[in-house]
Amino acid sequence: MTRLTALALPLIALALAPTAARADVVAKAASPDGHITLTISLDGEGRPSYAVQRNGKPLIADSRLGFMFTDAPKIERNLTLADARQASRDTNWTQPWGEWSTIRDHHNELKLVFREKGDLQREMDVTFRLFDEGVAFRYSLPDQANLHHANIAEELTQFAFAQGGTAWWKPAYEWNREEYLYNRTPLDAVGTAQTVMTVKLADGTHVALHEAALVDYAGMNLARAEGNTFRADLTPGAGAPKVSRDAGFSTPWRTIAVADDAAGLYMNHMILNLNEPNKLGDVSWIRPGKFVGVWWNMIKGEWSWAQGPKHGATTANVRRYIDFAAASGIPAVLVEGWNVGWDGNWFGNGNAMNFSQPTEDFDADGLAAYARSKGVTLIGHHETGGSASHYDGQLDTAFKWAADHGEQVVKTGYVTDAGQIERVDADGAKHREWHEGQWMVNHYLRVVQTAAKYHVSIDSHEPVKDTGLRRTYPNWVAREGGRGMEYNAWVGGKNPPEHEANLVFTQLLGGPMDFTPGVLSLSGSEGSTIHSTIAKQLALYVVLYSPVVMAADTPENYAKYPGPFQFIKNVPTDWSDTRALNGEVGDYVTIARKAKGSDDWYLGAVGDEQARSSKVALDFLDAGRSYTAEIYRDGPGADYRTEARHAIVIEKKQVKKGDVLAIDLAPGGGQAIRFVASGGKRKR
Ligand code: NOJ
Ligand code: CA
Repeated sequence: MTRLTALALPLIALALAPTAARADVVAKAASPDGHITLTISLDGEGRPSYAVQRNGKPLIADSRLGFMFTDAPKIERNLTLADARQASRDTNWTQPWGEWSTIRDHHNELKLVFREKGDLQREMDVTFRLFDEGVAFRYSLPDQANLHHANIAEELTQFAFAQGGTAWWKPAYEWNREEYLYNRTPLDAVGTAQTVMTVKLADGTHVALHEAALVDYAGMNLARAEGNTFRADLTPGAGAPKVSRDAGFSTPWRTIAVADDAAGLYMNHMILNLNEPNKLGDVSWIRPGKFVGVWWNMIKGEWSWAQGPKHGATTANVRRYIDFAAASGIPAVLVEGWNVGWDGNWFGNGNAMNFSQPTEDFDADGLAAYARSKGVTLIGHHETGGSASHYDGQLDTAFKWAADHGEQVVKTGYVTDAGQIERVDADGAKHREWHEGQWMVNHYLRVVQTAAKYHVSIDSHEPVKDTGLRRTYPNWVAREGGRGMEYNAWVGGKNPPEHEANLVFTQLLGGPMDFTPGVLSLSGSEGSTIHSTIAKQLALYVVLYSPVVMAADTPENYAKYPGPFQFIKNVPTDWSDTRALNGEVGDYVTIARKAKGSDDWYLGAVGDEQARSSKVALDFLDAGRSYTAEIYRDGPGADYRTEARHAIVIEKKQVKKGDVLAIDLAPGGGQAIRFVASGGKRKR
């Protein structure tokens, strides 16, 4: 269904002349259901602002718009509204892979043209889209007499929350990039935050600030100006302007997602809807799926990436992992440390990395053939150590090599401190870039586009944040971008039990995360305790969405837990439907998903450090069917702090739509359920 209309705004709106004393509303728009409204004002100095209301109550108070440049006066005041146009859209589109097969894009659009009075007469356009689930806007700077090139020093965009609340956020510009635990603070105590930042306002309304379609622009952080007011804070580049573009472009969308509760925020589709449709054409070569890997032993420090007696990526080890994957029905094996370049100090320096030259003890051709004979593919790894230009110089050869060896996915890495990416210009000049600056935003996409030419998908670690580009480039299947399971390998700084219930309602609102769950041994280096139960490890396969998901533990450890491992073997990574059933940010969450191409449903529930009981109505199941629920729940006395973290009960129950299940979570616990459909008719 497509409906597209364009109509001029009522003239009365345009005719209002702002007075010096106060701001006048010059344009208005509403969401399709009318619950969210937008007002645009101009004050007496010609400064535009926007404000958002929900159910008649202020949500975002008057917030400024505009730009500062490094080589021209700012565009911010002395503006008139030269034109305002509205349009509506109601379409459905299909995802090649994802949490939902079909996504509805239903919004009203308001496109505003502001023009400066006085000498420069520059034009700045702002397009708003109002969904039932929030508001988004972006700027466009058309090519014009007094603006052929934009050297942007800063955006002046504000987000002024109309009330206080609690915020979940992580700091921007710190050395460890995006790998911080979420802070939970009063909204007016936030520092400078990365997005996604999630807020529970005093009246219970949930809001998530983020951006969509970050292309050829700097990533946006949120600097708190005063009280509950934030300003867009663009990530710097190596040079003076944070963004340098020829005029005739649009910025990424600034997104304000809104819902009554945390579960509602998770069901939001704005980010995907604001991205452009698939540009890759036929993407049937992209294969979601699980993988095992020569990895956890390296992260734990028992094996090494470098060559030598502890080298992990040896021919013998990789053969063993291929055998294990084939026997477990897991389609892929990640191999790290297979290539030349790891032997020195690679952290922050990947200039020795060669992504088409295996080490001598890694028989790449033989292993590719062996994997093929077993119906398994290898996932290559490209650790750049932050030497992005060095990587740029070998992209084509590297992805051709990967494709020639049957690799369908490549995991990339940019391990260096924030602000320390090495960029080398054609003239040999060296610069230091930020992971989310404009130059790196372009680099990450260049990698994805080059990989696509060779039908390879990308899982980026130390990435730029996810702004929904998987819609446009569906081979960008996953990324890290937060604290994953690897932190649980290390003796210090383990992820706390609330971490995943934070991730679902913050980072994962932007898109899939390669968290690498499934460490059933629940032990890191030196036998250190991982703060989880086994049932929670299983639940993470449902709760933390990614089309490519690791079974991160070793074959030896999985052999010790055949019962729970069965769930990992069964759980799919591609879904036709998803329902967030309940949740509170950082406390707990329950999600149900329907396997694509099947009538089976899966449920995952995870909590924090407290024991919790909830009742979940199985309303999502299909009517008229019966299901065998294979339940994996925390066993008696299960507790993330003790040996009882391994306690699990696996049992079966017959259930149907409308039944209510009691879900009990141990401290640090979780629950995973597979609902196998039987009886009744399969609905297509
Ligand atoms: C950090 C990544 O997150 C991890 O998965 C990888 O193994 C190491 N870097 C080495 O590249
Ligand atoms: Ca990492």
